Amino acid sequence: MSKKSSSKVSVQDLNLSGKKVFIRVDFNVPIQDGKVADDTRIQAALPTIRLVREKGASLILASHLGRPKGERKPEFSLAPVAVRLGELLGEKVTFVDDCIGDKVDAAVKALEPGDVLLLENVRFYNGETKNDPEFARQLAGLADEFVNDAFGTAHRAHASTVGVPTVLGKGAAGLLIDRELKALSKVLHGAEKPLAALFGGAKVSDKIQVIENYLPSADTILLGGGMAFTFFKAQGKEIGNSLLEEDKLDTARELLARAKQLGVDFVLPVDVVVAPEFKADAESRIVSSDEIPAGWMGLDIGPKTVELFRKKLAEAKTVIWNGPLGVFEMDQFAKGTLGIAEAVAASSAFSLIGGGDSVSAVKKAGVADQVSHISTGGGASLEFLAGKELPGIAILTDKEN
Ligand code: 3PG
Repeated sequence: MSKKSSSKVSVQDLNLSGKKVFIRVDFNVPIQDGKVADDTRIQAALPTIRLVREKGASLILASHLGRPKGERKPEFSLAPVAVRLGELLGEKVTFVDDCIGDKVDAAVKALEPGDVLLLENVRFYNGETKNDPEFARQLAGLADEFVNDAFGTAHRAHASTVGVPTVLGKGAAGLLIDRELKALSKVLHGAEKPLAALFGGAKVSDKIQVIENYLPSADTILLGGGMAFTFFKAQGKEIGNSLLEEDKLDTARELLARAKQLGVDFVLPVDVVVAPEFKADAESRIVSSDEIPAGWMGLDIGPKTVELFRKKLAEAKTVIWNGPLGVFEMDQFAKGTLGIAEAVAASSAFSLIGGGDSVSAVKKAGVADQVSHISTGGGASLEFLAGKELPGIAILTDKEN
């Protein structure tokens, strides 16, 4: 496991009266028909936004939305977010359809203490993802202080996450980042045992590092989702047309061998829901994991696996979960993931969930309020749990001890 990261200056520590504060938020939210379809990430940023207003500063909020790759694409505009943010705050939010340039300078100049300005998507410029120093300098020029509250984007070394605090020579953590780091550090460094780690998702490659990082400390590793089939194949099982990462077979073998060596209970599904094609209305069957028919593919874990995983989770004092156990977006293959969401929520363990699909599953199952911590970061929480340093956090000012 990685070392504990040193503690960072928090927005709470700053005197912000009369200052202009650039707050990097993660408003990368789903937009449907020109409206915000899920405002969880906007809600998560409200405590910091309110605090900075109360401290008498004016706010310049910046975010990305989607991956427009340096092009100004209307479907990735943050305009609908400004509307939703205004509703949630009950305050006027000014939106400017750019993030640098004369229009932005004028809008920033007009700000009074307590005013909130949301800039347009920073990824409409290539300089954002390239962490271009000139682009960062233009963003940094708008403000006196930098606060990062974009936990979901903390694993990206971009201009608005790393470039701006580099130019300003300082940066503070927002309240959301504080809260995320506390919860994630608890399961990374101080997890109460037994610790059960549950991983799903399509690809072994996405989860290798976090599985490796948890092998020495986890008591139980439960694995499902598309990546389970590469592990089955590594054990010599027939997997029909199920997802296979040929180039990860050796890795899967090594992980299984290491788990055995370390005495970790490494549990794979005992039954799976199979279908002859990858379609929402495909015919389906439940079969034992040893009997996947030729020509069929596994698309979900079966009910016996849900029950087995539920028992294992009930024995744990700490549970972490990342990744769906099946093709969650198709109702027919969502039962495993929903069953696991209920099991995680029902366990009395400290439970931490990250990753879009697992979070949607606990919400869909109506049990989100029974989970100890739901991370707003998918990739960021995985990287943190894999023991990596997040550049957007590392750059923030260290607290003097
Ligand atoms: C996320 O949704 O995980 C974050 O907003 C980061 O988005 P990205 O993967 O496009 O950098």
